[in-house]
Amino acid sequence: MKNIQNIAVLTSGGDSPGMNAAIRAVVRTACHFNLNVFGIKHGYEGLIDGEIVPMSESDVSNIIHMGGTILRTARSARFRTEEGILLAIENLKKFNIEGLVVIGGDGSYKGAAALAEKIPIQVIGIPGTIDKDLSGTDTTLGFDTAVNTAMYAIDKIRDTAEAHDRIFFVEVMGRDAGYIALEAGLATGSEAILIPETKTYIDHLVKLLEKGWKRKKKSHIIIVAEGDDAGGAIQVSEAVKAKFNSIESRVTILGHLQRGGSPSMADRLLGTRWGFAAIEKLMEGKSGIALGIKNGEINETPLGIVNKEHPGLSEEMLRMLYILSN
Ligand code: F6P
Repeated sequence: MKNIQNIAVLTSGGDSPGMNAAIRAVVRTACHFNLNVFGIKHGYEGLIDGEIVPMSESDVSNIIHMGGTILRTARSARFRTEEGILLAIENLKKFNIEGLVVIGGDGSYKGAAALAEKIPIQVIGIPGTIDKDLSGTDTTLGFDTAVNTAMYAIDKIRDTAEAHDRIFFVEVMGRDAGYIALEAGLATGSEAILIPETKTYIDHLVKLLEKGWKRKKKSHIIIVAEGDDAGGAIQVSEAVKAKFNSIESRVTILGHLQRGGSPSMADRLLGTRWGFAAIEKLMEGKSGIALGIKNGEINETPLGIVNKEHPGLSEEMLRMLYILSN
């Protein structure tokens, strides 16, 4: 056991449902072990500006069911500069912070690793992103809620698509990763799923639509991950329309509604487990690691590895993608 006294927690990058559950578990577990715990507002921006406040058990009451993050978040350009990192370090020293829990995605992990390179601070990452695009873990905090939000929205779109015999191009989030598209698409029986990890051929999509019409298929739903190589849903719909200008189609961009909302049970529990584990790891003297979950068990991976690797798509998922919806 390491004798650590002062720890801090921040959320950074895009918010994700379940972040509040993780903050709650960090604060409550730290208080249980008589550690002083600080909340840093607005991620690394707040660390640079000294937005650091002490937290107690009661500060995290009644938040487990809430989307967003009570600590607020930001994408900090300043933290990518030498000057920004030095200001952040000054503030960490001012509050004598010895351990930092960073809840966020790959950009946030890079920030944590940059800090740990410069000062002797223990840093632990919790994978908080709806994208599920971090290696070393089977899932990320918020993915389950986001993909269910997308699924329910697509089901509703199917009703109206079917009523009008229309094609819908539905754009889901995922700048660099197609997991939301893939899993929401498979779960809704969507006719095609376009993701950044695989090349999109518009001619192939056109053939698929023709095949569907021959089978007297009434509606088609084409899921497009926002980062697909053929563009977003608007560009893909225009490329398809250029081939058949008579088709009745519509575009729906689900956008940020996928990031909000009350976290699912899975995300509440995951946030709770990771928040609890983060404090245990800090007390064990661990640093420079990202928490994850593999086969239901909490695991840890060096931040350096997570920052270098992009998790690939599973072979099984790819086979299903080709056979069931392409
Ligand atoms: O990283 C999470 C995410 O929601 C991505 O899926 C999306 O591309 C991006 O954030 C959007 O970021 P912002 O809210 O800054 O526009």
